[in-house]
Amino acid sequence: MQDLVWEESLSIEVPEIDEEHCRLIDLFNILCRSAENGDTNDHIEVAMEELISCTLRHFRHEERLMLKYDYEGLAEHKSEHEELLASAKALQQKLLQEGKRVLSEHIPFLRNWLIGHILAADKILGSYLCKAIPRSFECSLSGGEALKRGGTIFNHSPGSIVQ
Ligand SMILES: [Fe+2]
Ligand SMILES: [Fe+2]
Repeated sequence: MQDLVWEESLSIEVPEIDEEHCRLIDLFNILCRSAENGDTNDHIEVAMEELISCTLRHFRHEERLMLKYDYEGLAEHKSEHEELLASAKALQQKLLQEGKRVLSEHIPFLRNWLIGHILAADKILGSYLCKAIPRSFECSLSGGEALKRGGTIFNHSPGSIVQ
């Protein structure tokens, strides 16, 4: 399966959040490649755990920003985070019980899980934060530019991630 690629249309114009989204996409790709390459269940479980723990840290980061900048949609956004985490943990549990076959069946679900939230709730949050955060913060930078400046390595191969 083609890797997900971080591209400008996914930027929420908040560089520190874009960077974390980019990392989550990398972890998703690692997990999918691991399943495709026939890696052991242990290997795949570690990749899944890494995706979930990184997602948890990322969600907490967004929630701290929402709180700090009095975002009205905090409760709704947070509850969406909780639902996303619960569904990922349910998949992780299934993976532990039934093995890697489960993962290949659920890749489209995980893909939507990751991208759907960024394109909807996180985009709305991003436009709010860009107005709320003091100008010294680099909101005006495009996500891609911010990532380059931050030194994060990510895949620039062509193709849209939105199916
Ligand atoms: Fe979010
Ligand atoms: Fe996010």
